[in-house]
Amino acid sequence: MVYIPLDSSRESSVALLREGNTFISTRCERYDTDIFRARLMMEKTICLRGEAAARLFYDEQRFTREGAAPGLLVKTLFGVGGVQGLDGEAHRVRKRMFMDLMSDADIKELTHFAVEEWQQAIKSWQRQTQVVLHSAVQRIHFRAACRWAGVPVDEDAVDTRCAEQAAMIDGAGGVASRHWQARRARKHSEAWMAALVEQVRGNRIQVDEDRALFRVSWHRDVQGDLLKPQVAAVELLNLLRPTVAIARFVTFAALALHEHPGWHETLRQDDTWLEPFVQEVRRLYGFFPFLAARVREDFEWNGYRFPKGGRVMLDLFGTNRDPRSWAQPDEFRPERYEREAINAYNFIPQGGGEHAVNHRCPGEWFTIALIKEGVRQLTRHMTYEVPQQDLRIDWSRMPIIPESRFVIASIRPTATP
Ligand code: HEM
Repeated sequence: MVYIPLDSSRESSVALLREGNTFISTRCERYDTDIFRARLMMEKTICLRGEAAARLFYDEQRFTREGAAPGLLVKTLFGVGGVQGLDGEAHRVRKRMFMDLMSDADIKELTHFAVEEWQQAIKSWQRQTQVVLHSAVQRIHFRAACRWAGVPVDEDAVDTRCAEQAAMIDGAGGVASRHWQARRARKHSEAWMAALVEQVRGNRIQVDEDRALFRVSWHRDVQGDLLKPQVAAVELLNLLRPTVAIARFVTFAALALHEHPGWHETLRQDDTWLEPFVQEVRRLYGFFPFLAARVREDFEWNGYRFPKGGRVMLDLFGTNRDPRSWAQPDEFRPERYEREAINAYNFIPQGGGEHAVNHRCPGEWFTIALIKEGVRQLTRHMTYEVPQQDLRIDWSRMPIIPESRFVIASIRPTATP
């Protein structure tokens, strides 16, 4: 049996909160390893990084997600009873519901709604001195997602409901007020969504049968039962909240366009480089840093012992910047994809493995489509200035965001090229 290096601190949670995204990779470099043990959130945890570790982590025979996610995340980001904590057949049945909602027609329709919302927003931005891009795009995505899902929202409730989605995302890795805000937001949002589910079931509101609100409300679990309204609410929020979260990637795309003006010009011309540009935004600015699972039964891997019930954490942040997979990993270089190959375990900003089988994010196609649309809008449908502001990224913050949230000014719509 091979010794797994032990992080020197008796309890490393404080260091995790202090260092944030780089916590695992810093230690992997310090101990010259892809695996180490640490005590995190009062529990012995094995931390892993890199492509080979990701392949292991997504081996369903070896790991379960049940009871793996830290309570703080469940109460803010995930919610109780959602797909993230299911295993085996129960997971597969629930996951199919999500996968069925991600058809090409769904991607096209969501993008179409987003385009309409962008066009309307850009017109209104002309009258404003400045716009904070991150919150403005959250609103665009929220409205587009609600239209796509068939979720009715009163016009005067849009800002509050959108802010709740944003708070759940932003509070996920936070403590103190950020954490409590996220919990309150989840409570209010779940109550809103659960009431809608009851109205659909009681035929008190009319929703098209293809809409997510209808499909989730009438989804039956592995036993053939309808989901509890609270669980259906969690799953509907698993569609709305992350679509709002894509605004973070659009904000980082705007930052990349600003820092690399050559790309702004290239992308303004046509879509040739759009996909690699978007992939590089997702790789470098992935804002979901780690994932947790539990060991099903004792096993050994490369001589290391994994004890039954033990918690394991996979480093998404570090794997996406692993120099064994990526040349000059900290540099923004969309052209790298001409030579460097993506696979389901080295490029994992939204998890790895197979979408239908593993827990890999079913929203990757929505994400890529909406970042692409954001880039098209920023480069082709408007002009703007980027005033002096603090664009630094605090890598210890989870989730990351430029300090100023990317402020733009002197916004003018441009005629469609
Ligand atoms: C799962 C990230 C967008 C729905 C995940 C996971 C990550 C992730 C890291 C966990 C993978 C794992 O446990 O192995 C992101 C990021 C997004 C995003 C960074 C961009 C903002 C979306 C969108 C949707 C979505 C747009 C739906 C419309 C889900 C669901 C799961 C999930 C339902 C749970 C899947 C499962 O447990 O099987 N996402 N996601 N996500 N994501 Fe996303």
